[in-house]
Amino acid sequence: MKHIESVADLRESLRIWRMRGESIAFVPTMGNLHAGHLHLVEEAKKQAERVVVSIFVNPTQFSAGEDFGSYPRTPEKDAAQLRESGVDLLFMPDTETMYPRGSSTFVEVPGISETLCGSFRPGHFRGVATVVCKLFNMVQPEVALFGEKDFQQLTVIHRMVADLNLPVRVIGVPTVREANGLAMSSRNGYLSTEEKSQAALLYQSLLAAKAALEAGERDYRSIETQQLENLKEGGFVPDYFVIRKVDLAEPASCDRDFVILLAARLGKARLIDNIRVRV
Ligand code: PAJ
Repeated sequence: MKHIESVADLRESLRIWRMRGESIAFVPTMGNLHAGHLHLVEEAKKQAERVVVSIFVNPTQFSAGEDFGSYPRTPEKDAAQLRESGVDLLFMPDTETMYPRGSSTFVEVPGISETLCGSFRPGHFRGVATVVCKLFNMVQPEVALFGEKDFQQLTVIHRMVADLNLPVRVIGVPTVREANGLAMSSRNGYLSTEEKSQAALLYQSLLAAKAALEAGERDYRSIETQQLENLKEGGFVPDYFVIRKVDLAEPASCDRDFVILLAARLGKARLIDNIRVRV
């Protein structure tokens, strides 16, 4: 596995592969890798001859007061896991490489970026769209893989790629979970053992809402309120629990295709999860 830090070295490696006619699949990450990330890598290997993974804890997607400083950074362990997984190239730029002095251009995907997590984390999706657009321009992959765990992020990326005619196919990959249903996340490391078992309630609340929809309940507000209460009783401070259409618009009573999304805080962690439901 090549381990590259500069854009010039990255372009040189990619040029050689492209000359040989090899296609490239790309998995952007912020590191502290877990089985969810590695699942994206496995899917990437099915999509192209070469797999590029980036690790960059992107400062522009963290708001003031968020966990940018304490975000877990485990580069050696990550590199070993990626080498083991058969990744061809690990791109690990520093902040100066990604945002050189004077850099001032941002990518905004309004509307979709302002609801749900966007309303609790202003500027978050602007930072995500900007860094992903820059990484796409650096790597120029045929395919890029993102987790459905971050459903709103995936929606923002799809919108950006369509609106800017970026020549990349974006693939969403299903969420990998712990045995108790908790969606894997680098932020689960902020939880104590006890909180980790408590956090199983998040997926259970999604399943309960799914069961209500499947049973024919169409009072979305009432399902949402009930599950918000359920989360509060379980010791969470929920930001939201909503039933939406898959484009994240509010559903009407005739809709049949939903995504249920939640964000909630437990101890030091802010956790998100979602589930698709078709009735
Ligand atoms: P990060 O949180 O490291 O996640 C990198 C990728 O892994 C994202 O596409 C995310 O959705 C996916 N992922 C995380 N947990 C997962 C799980 N349990 N199952 C499946 N996929 C999972 O998301 C980011 O980094 C950043 O915002 C980034 C896109 C890299 C831009 O900085």
